[in-house]
Amino acid sequence: MNKEIVLSGIRPTGNLHLGNYFGALSKFVRLQDDYDCRFFIADLHALTTNTDPDALHANVKGILAEYLAAGIDPEKAAIFVQSDVPEISELYLLLNMHVGIGELMRTASFKDKARKCLGIGKDACETEEEIEHQIIGADNNKRVCAGLLTYPTLMAVDILIQKAKYVPVGKDQLQHLELTRRFARRFNSFYGVEEFIEPEDFNFGGKPVKVPGLDGSGKMGKSEGNCIYLIDDPKVIRKKVMRAVTDQGPTEPNSPISEPIANLLGLMELTSSPETVQQFRDAYADCSIRYGDLKKQLAEDIVALTDPIRQRINDILANDEYLRKVLARGAEVAREQASKTLAEVRQIMGIRHF
Ligand code: ADP
Ligand code: TRP
Repeated sequence: MNKEIVLSGIRPTGNLHLGNYFGALSKFVRLQDDYDCRFFIADLHALTTNTDPDALHANVKGILAEYLAAGIDPEKAAIFVQSDVPEISELYLLLNMHVGIGELMRTASFKDKARKCLGIGKDACETEEEIEHQIIGADNNKRVCAGLLTYPTLMAVDILIQKAKYVPVGKDQLQHLELTRRFARRFNSFYGVEEFIEPEDFNFGGKPVKVPGLDGSGKMGKSEGNCIYLIDDPKVIRKKVMRAVTDQGPTEPNSPISEPIANLLGLMELTSSPETVQQFRDAYADCSIRYGDLKKQLAEDIVALTDPIRQRINDILANDEYLRKVLARGAEVAREQASKTLAEVRQIMGIRHF
């Protein structure tokens, strides 16, 4: 029986952190036995914000080693680099003809990244009109590139070209997935075809994952500077966790849990045993909790998870020949499906040979 297709990718913009691991990578590893999995390194997407060629090149190799070290088995799942599949770039051009600039401009990630490009703080520019005004009026050395605007088209193409049914991603990517479904539906109904499959998120029946940062609020993210990286040395991890923001501690039994503490317990839920988490929740409820103990435990549980991965990353990075083989095989699998889909779409849209 044909297995359903799972597709996901991560941008090579730096080392992977616990947010990437729990939001995406750990799910990739769990899915590879039961689905036809394709995992890629989104180097074209990285170009929307990264303009340093050497850093991009190094990061592609880094993410590849991290995929493998975290347990993606290239015998089970295809691993490829986005730009090794040129069909993606052509379909991106074609699909863009059915995507509105208005809907792209309203995407939360676009507004967020555009604001960062222009160096505008979150509070300085609240309404859609204000941000539009800033983008249109921006002078040339602070421009928001068109690639950033059409980021969701490219992401939709990654998914639709592979006919993927499931897309394991963290919570912040759900809006992009919603747009992908919309573009697929629109294309199918415009041409009266059933070309594209509407993809779904995949969370093993649980809630979408959002890994918090250690700075008291928000999510763990590269640009937030609050990450624990898979490649971090145990000493560095212990230091980062011990510095995490806490509060004064509960003064009355069963007090509500503040955000920084909820975040630490949330991280603990991902890395520690359920009994350990319960023990600290009980200690919070009866006011006997000591945040120093909570952090020590959390740090050790994170190190137990990341240290074997870190050691494998370093070994894998030294083996260029193996890495090249993995990518060549992955690209072959990805291109086989991509060229089929592209040929169908060209035909549907009227780009036909005489
Ligand atoms: P970053 O936000 O650090 O730049 P990316 O945008 O490259 O990370 O994310 C790659 C994958 O990791 C996506 O599937 C994204 O949803 C997931 N991810 C990133 N940060 C988190 C987080 N804090 N919690 C859950 N998932 C996350
Ligand atoms: N936009 C995703 C991110 O920032 C990366 C990505 C690009 C992706 N194309 C994709 C994820 C296709 C899943 C499927 O993390």
